[in-house]
Amino acid sequence: TPAGDLATQILHALDKNSPLLSSAAFPTIPSTEVKGALDRLASRDMVKYETIDREEAILEPEGEQIAANGSHEARVFEALRTAVEGLTIQELETAIGDKNVVKIGQGRAFREKWISKTADGKFKAAKESIKDTTKEQMQTIQSTKSYPDAKMLADLKKRKLVRTQKIISFNIQKGKKFALKIPEVATDLTADMIASGSWKSATFKGYNFKALGADQHPGALHPLNKVRSELRQIFFEMGFQEMPTDKFVESGFWNFDALFVPQQHPARDMQDTFYVSDPKEADMPRGEDSSDTADYKTYWDNVRDVHQDGKYGSIGYRYPWSGEESKKLVLRTHTTAISANMLYKLAQQKGPDGRPPPARYFSIDRVFRNETVDATHLAEFHQVEGVIADYDLTLGGLMEFMDIFFGKMGITDLKYKCAYNPYTEPSMEIFSYHKGLGKLVEIGNSGMFRAEMLESMGLPKDMRVFGWGLSLERPTMIKYGISNIRELLGHKVDLNFMRNSPAVRLDKE
Ligand code: PHE
Repeated sequence: TPAGDLATQILHALDKNSPLLSSAAFPTIPSTEVKGALDRLASRDMVKYETIDREEAILEPEGEQIAANGSHEARVFEALRTAVEGLTIQELETAIGDKNVVKIGQGRAFREKWISKTADGKFKAAKESIKDTTKEQMQTIQSTKSYPDAKMLADLKKRKLVRTQKIISFNIQKGKKFALKIPEVATDLTADMIASGSWKSATFKGYNFKALGADQHPGALHPLNKVRSELRQIFFEMGFQEMPTDKFVESGFWNFDALFVPQQHPARDMQDTFYVSDPKEADMPRGEDSSDTADYKTYWDNVRDVHQDGKYGSIGYRYPWSGEESKKLVLRTHTTAISANMLYKLAQQKGPDGRPPPARYFSIDRVFRNETVDATHLAEFHQVEGVIADYDLTLGGLMEFMDIFFGKMGITDLKYKCAYNPYTEPSMEIFSYHKGLGKLVEIGNSGMFRAEMLESMGLPKDMRVFGWGLSLERPTMIKYGISNIRELLGHKVDLNFMRNSPAVRLDKE
């Protein structure tokens, strides 16, 4: 064999002999390797080739034995030919030295009428000579690897003397650019090549348009951010305005009292709410700047009255309401604190008819709860919240709206369950059947805000407001198949997970 790699060897062999059959020229090299080398050459037009599939016949071990020693029946005949008196079965076995050969061989030899039995039951030869065709067939197959006809092949296969094997070989011819050496290919056009003019005769490597690009490591959005931007899009599409949620600290007034959450409510307890220790106290509720001329003092008094003594047809909670408690600073436990603030501002607005105009607000931001951290709870998470204020809204309207809103996220077949919030009546938890998880999952909380809350603000009696909230983490975890919230937020987050998670479209399932 000429030196060099297989491709070079093929070129040399082809130079002497074209066309060339690979199975003849390179019998020991696996066809996959030959094909690899041929493809390399063919892509440069140095060779052309076609693939030939054929079946080769190969002797089984017993077939090999027959090719060497003759068929079983011929060996039985041979042993008997020289024994004039005939042989008993034991003598025959000793003569041949293989019980199996005797067992099969004598049966076939009888059928061929090569042997017969003597009067005393011994075996003897019945002919002068025989022709051992099976041995000849085995020898032909051994040397040619092919077989004379299909019927014979089937018979030999059945006798387990021969098997066949698929052989792939290639009929190779010189191509247009045939040469004995593979030309060097340039991968770049260099300044030197232009200066020397060598580019004119150079062979350039073709572009591989199927090559995958190199991995880039640009910045990546956090999955929560991806789901958040999708949700924002849905809100904007439905005519919502984003609420300013850029503060984590709220007073108890906005977080609880304005929402008609009584001051003894368990959620206000140290166990559920983070209180700020420095400063401890907020100012009286007021607008952010001088353009806000609303009468916050009257509102404050209304809130106190409705809690303590009842107002607007409500009997209230009837406990001594504390201004101190209301001024305590807390890390907001829900973004509904912002909704309350926005609704109060809405109450001050006058539309064309002199009444507050309908409004749609939303926010997606962080809230804090003093909870035991586990696989599905963190002390801080994100809330998605929406409120709709309009005249004569109904509960049916809220349910229809939820169908549309969640439908846009691919969440359908909503189910509602009665719930309790101090600030809404009725209140409903929203569930949806999750096909992936195979169960109903709670996706949000909703309700019609209470008159105690809205009328304290000065909103007209016939203006109804409904609101709902859900966590941002829940749909994100479902979408990304995350079962532990700590993989999504906090110090255990794997940066590769951020990098590799797909751009999202909320699951249709
Ligand atoms: N504030 C509620 C929560 O934290 C969500 C909600 C908002 C419910 C508005 C009703 C109305 O779960």
